[in-house]
Amino acid sequence: MSLQKLVINQFRNIDSASITFHPKINLIFGENGSGKSSLLEAIYLLGLGRSFRTHLTNRVIQYEQTHFTLYSEVNYQQRLLPIGLQKSKSGETTLKIDGQVAKKLAALTQYIPIQLITPESTSLLSGSPKNRRAYLDWGVFYHDPTFYSNWSRIKRILKQRNAALKQCNAYKELQVWDNELCVLSEQISAQRADYFAKLQPLIEQTIADFLPEFTIKSHFFCGWDKNNKPLAQYLSDNFHRDKQLGYTSIGPQKADLKIKINNLPVDDVLSRGQLKLLVYALRLAQGLFLNAIDHKQCVFLIDDFSSELDSTKQKVLAKHIIESDAQVFISAISANSIEDLFTQERTLFHVKQGKITVER
Ligand SMILES: Nc1ncnc2c1ncn2[C@@H]1O[C@H](COP(=O)(O)OP(=O)(O)O)[C@@H](O)[C@H]1O
Ligand SMILES: [Mg+2]
Repeated sequence: MSLQKLVINQFRNIDSASITFHPKINLIFGENGSGKSSLLEAIYLLGLGRSFRTHLTNRVIQYEQTHFTLYSEVNYQQRLLPIGLQKSKSGETTLKIDGQVAKKLAALTQYIPIQLITPESTSLLSGSPKNRRAYLDWGVFYHDPTFYSNWSRIKRILKQRNAALKQCNAYKELQVWDNELCVLSEQISAQRADYFAKLQPLIEQTIADFLPEFTIKSHFFCGWDKNNKPLAQYLSDNFHRDKQLGYTSIGPQKADLKIKINNLPVDDVLSRGQLKLLVYALRLAQGLFLNAIDHKQCVFLIDDFSSELDSTKQKVLAKHIIESDAQVFISAISANSIEDLFTQERTLFHVKQGKITVER
């Protein structure tokens, strides 16, 4: 899977652009405010149906305009698949995949598996477990075709259970949900654990290359302590507490990826630049996994590549990115900070006031 062509209309400061990408490395440079992040945002939107900078469509539609349009041609299963997305200020969304109207934006996710790395990405390590669950589930989604339906089902059950929790008086009124909830929770946890067990060696290997001076341990927590008691028991024991909280406090919705150095949280020990390297290691490991085991090509969007990284680390990173066999989009303020790191199989784009041109 790779993005061959992208046409952008009225998206942020990009009035119109029609770009043919390199199947491997795309270097994007331009001054602050030129539109580099907007270009990456457009690709991300086509991959996931949402922005990484805002959840408000109006923010990405060009000022004074009523809608934005994105059209792309994606290499998918040995052919070129057209995907078009339009969103308007009034809230209408039109998504067309291969000429057919698709009702749900979620339909997009299977075509372009995107990994995003920005200066804000360290929140994967310092932010809430939700970020790490999203990281893990990204991989499980592409690895295990039944995961998505399990995950959507459990989300619905939890919503219903939480609503019922607020109204009911005795635990037995919740049992209709809990039987299915427990079965699905076990399945989801097994799917996540299986994926993580396979991913872990790749993570450790990549971390050893990026941060050889640290011993970093990662561990998957499924959301409850299986050695202590079964989930069903937790659910009934926690009834009064959960009722007060207004939500179900234990289960796969609380899963986490614990990443530690000498048993300390990584963000207590590592510098910002080192945290960023760790995020790169985690995300590149997933890209490698996707390629080697799931036989799908990953698309990396890397915004502000050079920020917070010294030149030695930039070289190590560049080597891994090149070897990953992914399609990559890398932005930086100046061309000379990145063009010497990626000398082959690349196209260099210059962005200036929303205009995108091929440099060489
Ligand atoms: N909805 C919009 N319409 C037009 N311009 C916008 C919109 N939203 C943001 N901008 C402008 O687009 C420019 C490009 O932003 P951005 O892509 O973040 O630049 P870069 O990443 O190159 O620093 C900025 O000057 C910003 O003010
Ligand atoms: Mg930017």
